[in-house]
Amino acid sequence: MTQPHLHVLDHPLIGHMMAQARDRATPSSVFRGLLYRVAGLLAYEALRTAPHHAVRVQTPLEEMDGVQLQLPITIVPILRAGLGLAAGMLELLPEARMGHIGLFRNEETLEPVTYYENLPRDVEAGPVLLVDPMLATGGSASEGIRRLRKRGCKDIRFVCLVAAPEGVAKLHDVDPKVPITAAALDRQLNEKGYILPGLGDAGDRLYGTG
Ligand code: PRP
Ligand code: URA
Repeated sequence: MTQPHLHVLDHPLIGHMMAQARDRATPSSVFRGLLYRVAGLLAYEALRTAPHHAVRVQTPLEEMDGVQLQLPITIVPILRAGLGLAAGMLELLPEARMGHIGLFRNEETLEPVTYYENLPRDVEAGPVLLVDPMLATGGSASEGIRRLRKRGCKDIRFVCLVAAPEGVAKLHDVDPKVPITAAALDRQLNEKGYILPGLGDAGDRLYGTG
Protein backbone atom coordinates (compact mmCIF):
# COMPACT_ATOMS: atom_id res chain seq x y z
CA MET A 1 0.00 0.00 0.00
CA THR A 2 1.46 3.39 -0.93
CA GLN A 3 1.01 5.96 1.79
CA PRO A 4 1.68 9.39 0.32
CA HIS A 5 0.85 11.06 3.63
CA LEU A 6 3.61 9.08 5.43
CA HIS A 7 7.30 9.87 5.04
CA VAL A 8 9.68 7.54 6.87
CA LEU A 9 13.27 8.76 7.04
CA ASP A 10 15.36 6.08 5.45
CA HIS A 11 18.92 6.99 6.35
CA PRO A 12 21.76 5.13 8.09
CA LEU A 13 22.40 8.04 10.45
CA ILE A 14 18.79 7.89 11.64
CA GLY A 15 19.00 4.09 11.87
CA HIS A 16 22.19 4.39 13.92
CA MET A 17 20.61 6.75 16.44
CA MET A 18 17.32 4.86 16.55
CA ALA A 19 19.09 1.58 17.37
CA GLN A 20 20.66 3.26 20.40
CA ALA A 21 17.38 4.90 21.44
CA ARG A 22 15.54 1.58 21.21
CA ASP A 23 18.13 -0.30 23.28
CA ARG A 24 16.67 -0.85 26.75
CA ALA A 25 20.15 -0.45 28.27
CA THR A 26 20.39 3.16 27.05
CA PRO A 27 20.02 5.46 30.07
CA SER A 28 17.75 8.53 30.11
CA SER A 29 20.72 10.89 29.87
CA VAL A 30 21.76 9.35 26.53
CA PHE A 31 18.18 8.77 25.32
CA ARG A 32 17.39 12.49 25.71
CA GLY A 33 20.41 13.46 23.63
CA LEU A 34 19.46 11.02 20.87
CA LEU A 35 15.91 12.37 20.65
CA TYR A 36 17.25 15.92 20.61
CA ARG A 37 19.47 15.15 17.62
CA VAL A 38 16.94 13.05 15.66
CA ALA A 39 14.37 15.82 16.18
CA GLY A 40 16.39 18.29 14.12
CA LEU A 41 16.56 15.84 11.23
CA LEU A 42 12.82 15.14 11.47
CA ALA A 43 12.01 18.86 11.41
CA TYR A 44 14.34 19.31 8.43
CA GLU A 45 12.34 16.73 6.47
CA ALA A 46 8.93 17.87 7.69
CA LEU A 47 9.71 21.43 6.53
CA ARG A 48 10.95 20.39 3.08
CA THR A 49 7.70 21.71 1.60
CA ALA A 50 7.38 24.68 3.97
CA PRO A 51 6.12 27.91 2.41
CA HIS A 52 8.96 30.31 1.64
CA HIS A 53 9.75 33.31 -0.49
CA ALA A 54 12.72 34.96 -2.14
CA VAL A 55 14.64 37.76 -0.45
CA ARG A 56 17.45 39.88 -1.75
CA VAL A 57 20.63 39.38 0.29
CA GLN A 58 23.66 41.61 0.19
CA THR A 59 26.74 39.46 0.76
CA PRO A 60 30.05 41.22 1.42
CA LEU A 61 30.70 40.84 -2.33
CA GLU A 62 27.41 41.23 -4.20
CA GLU A 63 23.63 40.98 -4.10
CA MET A 64 21.86 37.66 -4.60
CA ASP A 65 18.48 35.92 -4.27
CA GLY A 66 18.13 34.16 -0.94
CA VAL A 67 15.33 32.13 0.67
CA GLN A 68 13.27 33.09 3.68
CA LEU A 69 10.87 30.71 5.39
CA GLN A 70 7.42 32.16 5.81
CA LEU A 71 6.94 32.76 9.52
CA PRO A 72 5.38 32.15 11.94
CA ILE A 73 6.05 28.45 12.32
CA THR A 74 4.76 26.89 15.52
CA ILE A 75 6.12 23.77 17.19
CA VAL A 76 3.49 22.05 19.34
CA PRO A 77 4.72 19.17 21.50
CA ILE A 78 2.14 16.84 22.97
CA LEU A 79 3.13 16.71 26.66
CA ARG A 80 4.92 15.21 28.10
CA ALA A 81 7.10 13.12 25.78
CA GLY A 82 6.77 15.59 22.88
CA LEU A 83 9.03 17.94 24.83
CA GLY A 84 11.90 15.55 24.14
CA LEU A 85 11.61 16.27 20.41
CA ALA A 86 10.56 19.92 20.56
CA ALA A 87 13.81 21.05 22.17
CA GLY A 88 15.92 19.83 19.22
CA MET A 89 13.53 21.42 16.74
CA LEU A 90 13.65 24.78 18.47
CA GLU A 91 17.44 24.67 18.34
CA LEU A 92 17.23 24.22 14.55
CA LEU A 93 14.58 26.88 14.13
CA PRO A 94 14.96 29.46 16.91
CA GLU A 95 12.43 31.79 15.25
CA ALA A 96 9.64 29.25 15.84
CA ARG A 97 7.04 29.69 18.55
CA MET A 98 6.05 26.91 20.92
CA GLY A 99 2.55 25.88 21.87
CA HIS A 100 1.72 23.04 24.24
CA ILE A 101 -1.01 20.44 24.36
CA GLY A 102 -1.11 18.23 27.45
CA LEU A 103 -2.53 14.76 26.84
CA PHE A 104 -2.07 11.39 28.41
CA ARG A 105 -3.41 8.07 27.31
CA ASN A 106 -5.75 6.33 29.72
CA GLU A 107 -3.94 3.00 29.98
CA GLU A 108 -7.23 1.07 30.37
CA THR A 109 -9.25 2.54 27.53
CA LEU A 110 -6.28 3.86 25.49
CA GLU A 111 -8.34 7.04 24.99
CA PRO A 112 -6.54 10.41 25.24
CA VAL A 113 -7.26 12.63 28.24
CA THR A 114 -6.53 16.35 27.80
CA TYR A 115 -5.20 18.33 30.77
CA TYR A 116 -3.56 21.40 29.23
CA GLU A 117 -3.63 23.62 26.16
CA ASN A 118 -1.63 26.78 25.59
CA LEU A 119 -1.20 27.87 21.98
CA PRO A 120 -0.11 31.14 20.36
CA ARG A 121 -3.15 33.41 19.83
CA ASP A 122 -2.65 33.25 16.03
CA VAL A 123 -1.46 29.65 15.86
CA GLU A 124 -3.36 29.30 12.58
CA ALA A 125 -1.18 31.93 10.87
CA GLY A 126 1.46 29.45 9.63
CA PRO A 127 2.56 25.82 9.57
CA VAL A 128 2.32 23.82 12.79
CA LEU A 129 4.63 20.93 13.62
CA LEU A 130 2.69 18.72 16.02
CA VAL A 131 5.27 16.53 17.70
CA ASP A 132 5.13 13.38 19.81
CA PRO A 133 7.70 10.56 19.80
CA MET A 134 5.12 7.76 19.61
CA LEU A 135 2.20 7.27 17.22
CA ALA A 136 0.61 4.13 18.65
CA THR A 137 -3.20 3.87 18.42
CA GLY A 138 -3.19 7.41 17.06
CA GLY A 139 -5.65 8.61 19.70
CA SER A 140 -3.35 11.28 21.15
CA ALA A 141 -2.24 12.62 17.77
CA SER A 142 -5.85 12.70 16.51
CA GLU A 143 -6.92 14.70 19.54
CA GLY A 144 -4.01 17.11 19.05
CA ILE A 145 -4.97 17.58 15.39
CA ARG A 146 -8.62 18.07 16.32
CA ARG A 147 -7.68 20.83 18.76
CA LEU A 148 -5.48 22.57 16.18
CA ARG A 149 -8.20 22.36 13.52
CA LYS A 150 -10.64 23.87 16.02
CA ARG A 151 -8.25 26.82 16.28
CA GLY A 152 -8.32 27.23 12.50
CA CYS A 153 -4.95 25.64 11.66
CA LYS A 154 -4.76 24.63 8.01
CA ASP A 155 -1.14 23.49 7.64
CA ILE A 156 -0.56 20.79 10.28
CA ARG A 157 2.39 18.39 9.99
CA PHE A 158 2.66 15.51 12.45
CA VAL A 159 6.19 14.47 13.39
CA CYS A 160 7.09 11.40 15.42
CA LEU A 161 9.95 9.06 16.14
CA VAL A 162 8.17 5.70 15.88
CA ALA A 163 4.87 5.10 14.10
CA ALA A 164 2.71 1.99 14.27
CA PRO A 165 0.66 1.01 11.20
CA GLU A 166 -2.49 1.26 13.33
CA GLY A 167 -1.74 4.90 14.24
CA VAL A 168 -0.88 5.82 10.65
CA ALA A 169 -4.20 4.34 9.47
CA LYS A 170 -6.14 6.17 12.19
CA LEU A 171 -4.61 9.56 11.33
CA HIS A 172 -5.33 8.96 7.68
CA ASP A 173 -8.97 8.22 8.54
CA VAL A 174 -9.48 11.22 10.79
CA ASP A 175 -7.51 13.78 8.77
CA PRO A 176 -5.89 12.58 5.53
CA LYS A 177 -4.50 16.05 4.84
CA VAL A 178 -2.01 15.84 7.72
CA PRO A 179 1.36 14.49 6.52
CA ILE A 180 3.32 12.28 8.92
CA THR A 181 7.11 12.35 9.14
CA ALA A 182 8.58 9.48 11.16
CA ALA A 183 12.04 8.13 11.92
CA ALA A 184 10.69 4.55 11.78
CA LEU A 185 7.54 2.59 10.94
CA ASP A 186 7.27 -0.41 13.24
CA ARG A 187 5.36 -3.69 12.96
CA GLN A 188 2.27 -3.52 15.17
CA LEU A 189 0.78 -2.75 18.58
CA ASN A 190 0.66 -5.29 21.37
CA GLU A 191 -2.51 -5.98 23.40
CA LYS A 192 -1.69 -3.07 25.72
CA GLY A 193 -1.30 -0.59 22.87
CA TYR A 194 2.51 -0.52 22.95
CA ILE A 195 4.46 -0.39 19.72
CA LEU A 196 6.41 -3.53 18.71
CA PRO A 197 9.37 -3.56 18.57
CA GLY A 198 9.16 0.11 19.63
CA LEU A 199 11.26 1.62 22.39
CA GLY A 200 8.95 1.27 25.38
CA ASP A 201 7.31 4.22 27.10
CA ALA A 202 8.92 7.33 25.62
CA GLY A 203 8.00 9.63 28.51
CA ASP A 204 9.34 7.20 31.11
CA ARG A 205 12.56 6.72 29.16
CA LEU A 206 13.04 10.48 28.75
CA TYR A 207 12.40 11.40 32.35
CA GLY A 208 13.36 8.30 34.31
CA THR A 209 9.82 7.58 35.59
CA GLY A 210 7.93 4.31 35.39
C1 PRP B 1 2.52 8.41 24.97
C2 PRP B 1 3.13 9.09 23.76
C3 PRP B 1 1.91 9.57 23.03
C4 PRP B 1 0.89 8.49 23.30
C5 PRP B 1 0.80 7.62 22.09
O1 PRP B 1 2.18 9.36 25.90
O2 PRP B 1 4.04 10.09 24.08
O3 PRP B 1 1.43 10.82 23.48
O4 PRP B 1 1.39 7.74 24.42
O5 PRP B 1 -0.20 6.69 22.21
P1 PRP B 1 -1.50 6.71 21.32
O6 PRP B 1 -1.08 6.90 19.90
O7 PRP B 1 -2.09 5.34 21.54
O8 PRP B 1 -2.41 7.79 21.80
P2 PRP B 1 1.61 9.00 27.36
O9 PRP B 1 0.14 8.86 27.34
O10 PRP B 1 2.38 7.82 27.91
O11 PRP B 1 1.92 10.31 28.18
P3 PRP B 1 3.31 10.99 28.58
O12 PRP B 1 3.85 11.63 27.33
O13 PRP B 1 2.90 11.99 29.58
O14 PRP B 1 4.23 9.94 29.12
N1 URA C 1 3.29 5.33 24.17
C1 URA C 1 4.62 5.07 24.33
O1 URA C 1 5.34 5.85 24.98
N2 URA C 1 5.11 3.94 23.79
C2 URA C 1 4.36 3.08 23.08
O2 URA C 1 4.88 2.06 22.58
C3 URA C 1 2.99 3.37 22.92
C4 URA C 1 2.48 4.51 23.47
